[in-house]
Amino acid sequence: MASAIIRGLVKHGHKSEHILVCAPSQHTRSRLVKEFNVRVHSDNSAAVAFADIIILAVKPFIVPLVCDELRPLLGQLNEQRGDQGGEQKLVISIAAGLTHASISDKLPRNTQLVCAMPNLPTAIGKGLTGLYVPGHLDRQAFDDAEQLMRAVGDTVWLEDENQMASIVATAGSSPAYFFLFLEAMEKAAIAQGLPPKTASKAVLQSAMGAVSMAMASKEGLANLRHQVTSPKGTTEQAVLAFQHGDLDALVARAMDSAARRAKELALG
Ligand SMILES: NC(=O)c1ccc[n+]([C@@H]2O[C@H](COP(=O)([O-])OP(=O)(O)OC[C@H]3O[C@@H](n4cnc5c(N)ncnc54)[C@H](OP(=O)(O)O)[C@@H]3O)[C@@H](O)[C@H]2O)c1
Repeated sequence: MASAIIRGLVKHGHKSEHILVCAPSQHTRSRLVKEFNVRVHSDNSAAVAFADIIILAVKPFIVPLVCDELRPLLGQLNEQRGDQGGEQKLVISIAAGLTHASISDKLPRNTQLVCAMPNLPTAIGKGLTGLYVPGHLDRQAFDDAEQLMRAVGDTVWLEDENQMASIVATAGSSPAYFFLFLEAMEKAAIAQGLPPKTASKAVLQSAMGAVSMAMASKEGLANLRHQVTSPKGTTEQAVLAFQHGDLDALVARAMDSAARRAKELALG
């Protein structure tokens, strides 16, 4: 995930010498220097002295350990900046399933912390990131968090942390739903006699075309569907088959299960 964000930032014109990556293994540090020419360090506290924005991109169970390393210097520098009327440093966590309060508790009081939940297509710059902060955030920090995650796709701000579970169900897990649906279409097309390569191309290109049309259009999804569904035509037959199988209820059940699991994981 960190590599994806660095790639996005560099692609959007951020200078690689303005990015410092802290990672324990020499292997990872060398890989990142080779790939992006960024600065690297083995000590996490180096990030606090170096950066205005610190991204926690480690596995969730490592977040408390990293916060312990950041806390002393972060508290000291934020206090100095506060005394001088300057901006506080911004911390962005992308760790799945950790609440804002659980991370905030590990950082100095008044640290500006944004919780971000990116999804897998972030890796190719087409992600969707849910962003959450309770209460007030400086305008600059708000813009910085948004601009940073926009380097790897689009963003949505959530008003309530409970909505993070729905972002997981809608964006985090959904690439797998789409893969599953496309896989089923591919199998059906092959069963109807299309060669596998042709089936795969027809399915993927149609999915991309449909999504591109939906994103370019001001019509809602239902209107677009009606436009390609002529009465007594072929599409109508397929849509009726989906509706008789109660596709809406099935999708709602699947997404409720994903959201419920996200809430369970957040409780630890
Ligand atoms: N992957 C996804 O699709 C996705 C989606 C949403 C959110 N997330 C969240 O993103 C975070 C990272 O996930 P990932 O899939 O990118 O994990 P990952 O590939 O395992 O990367 C984790 C990185 O953390 C570094 N690290 C380990 N211990 C560290 C420490 N003590 N201090 C500093 N760095 C340390 C590792 O460096 P070394 O290589 O040197 O050990 C490694 O490069 C997780 O919290 C995950 O929940 C991931």
